[in-house]
Amino acid sequence: MTDAYVRSLERSRHNTTRTDRPRVFSLAGREWDLLDSVVPPVYSPSTATFLELLDFPVGGSMIEVGCGAGAIAVSAALAGCAQVVATDVNPEAARNAELSAVRHGVADRVRQGGSALLGFSSRRDLGRLRALADTADVTLDPVGSRRVAEPDTVVEYQLLRLEPRRPR
Ligand SMILES: C[S@@+](CC[C@H](N)C(=O)[O-])C[C@H]1O[C@@H](n2cnc3c(N)ncnc32)[C@H](O)[C@@H]1O
Repeated sequence: MTDAYVRSLERSRHNTTRTDRPRVFSLAGREWDLLDSVVPPVYSPSTATFLELLDFPVGGSMIEVGCGAGAIAVSAALAGCAQVVATDVNPEAARNAELSAVRHGVADRVRQGGSALLGFSSRRDLGRLRALADTADVTLDPVGSRRVAEPDTVVEYQLLRLEPRRPR
């Protein structure tokens, strides 16, 4: 990592925990909620800059990985995207994006919930995966499996569905 990148990460960490963070902020002419542990888009120009650069597909779909407060995902829906998926490793950011969608009346197109499908094989440690899913409060359910003879061994391939254990 370059020094500049490390400093930017440090600034981001500091801005996420500072006590003078707003509960509501203005960006791109709109007001947005900001929950506690969510990276605030007010101390860095990145969100506003990407919003300027993005040309949302009207009638199309969009996924934002790392949605934070959801300003980009919700702006996509407001610009006419028919379906938007907003995801974040931080559950509070996912909640924040949902709040933003409700605030701006597009919760029907930036929907809560959803699941992910994961392909897994017996070459790896299913117990470890289950432990990680438990830590993240995510359920891990088999969708289907096949045992396949490979040159060195028989491998079991599984398709697993991951879902939040509780609605977030
Ligand atoms: C700098 S913020 C940007 C938020 C938003 N895209 C914006 O422009 O306002 C980066 C976000 O990415 C999330 N993030 C970091 N690593 C991630 C990962 N591996 N998967 C999903 N989200 C991630 C963080 O939790 C944080 O909310």
